[in-house]
Amino acid sequence: MTNKTLFEGQVCIVVGAGNGIGRATVGLLQSRGAKVIALDNNVDALGKLKSEFSLGDDQVSVLDVSDEDQIKETIARIVAKEKRIDSLVNSAGMVGPSNVKLEDIAWVDFERTLRVNLFGTIWLTQQVLPIMKAQKYGRIVHVASIAGKEGNPGMSPYNTSKSGMIGFIKGIGKEIAPDGITINALAPAVIRTPMNADTSDETLKYMIARIPMGRVGEAEEVAETICFMASRACSFTTGFTFDTTGGRATY
Ligand SMILES: NC(=O)c1ccc[n+]([C@@H]2O[C@H](COP(=O)([O-])OP(=O)(O)OC[C@H]3O[C@@H](n4cnc5c(N)ncnc54)[C@H](O)[C@@H]3O)[C@@H](O)[C@H]2O)c1
Repeated sequence: MTNKTLFEGQVCIVVGAGNGIGRATVGLLQSRGAKVIALDNNVDALGKLKSEFSLGDDQVSVLDVSDEDQIKETIARIVAKEKRIDSLVNSAGMVGPSNVKLEDIAWVDFERTLRVNLFGTIWLTQQVLPIMKAQKYGRIVHVASIAGKEGNPGMSPYNTSKSGMIGFIKGIGKEIAPDGITINALAPAVIRTPMNADTSDETLKYMIARIPMGRVGEAEEVAETICFMASRACSFTTGFTFDTTGGRATY
């Protein structure tokens, strides 16, 4: 019997690969046989990733997802070289204004958060769809957040971008269902990554108190769910937002 969770012969793109959840996903995909192409706007993080996972020169590339032209050029280059893209995992993200009341948020900061988290999601999806449609196969995974389901006070740009991602994949899932492509999102609660490095102990306590398992999640645990979503095994679920919240969200 074929093990559909393995990635032998597959090309998998991970965006936001330099740290945290994206980085853990690179390791797990590679261990399961994928050729991973790692993209991030953090040059130093990409360099460390390249040496840690012994990636080739053609497997790492600098990309800022807030720039549509860069996304177009990067995906076109990957398609020209690899001739296929089996899965796209988009874990790039930023928190943006935090602990700031809506009326005090400068539009430039609101828009920046939308560009990275939401517009990046849309532009990446637009660019991988033609090759996936031609293959009649593809798996698209976007990392959203519990903030997109429940909302955090003082973080309206982040909440808006993440719920936008969840809404976006719902309709697209139906649109591309006949093409052999699935698109799903993931809504983690608090995960131990550099994104939370500066979160105060008080805020962490508040967040953990809402998690029935009573602890933060680890990037490797989230990567396990992502790898399922990015694999052939995830063949009858699309437009759905998976949960990694230690029991906080049961919907
Ligand atoms: N850590 C958590 O608690 C948590 C909870 C819910 C959702 N998330 C989401 O998970 C995803 C990954 O977060 P993480 O915790 O691994 O964070 P992280 O900061 O450790 O990693 C995010 C990566 O995205 C990259 N990135 C940021 N802006 C980019 C841009 N414009 N272009 C390309 N790359 C960019 C960063 O360089 C970094 O390598 C994010 O979308 C985040 O919103 C995280």
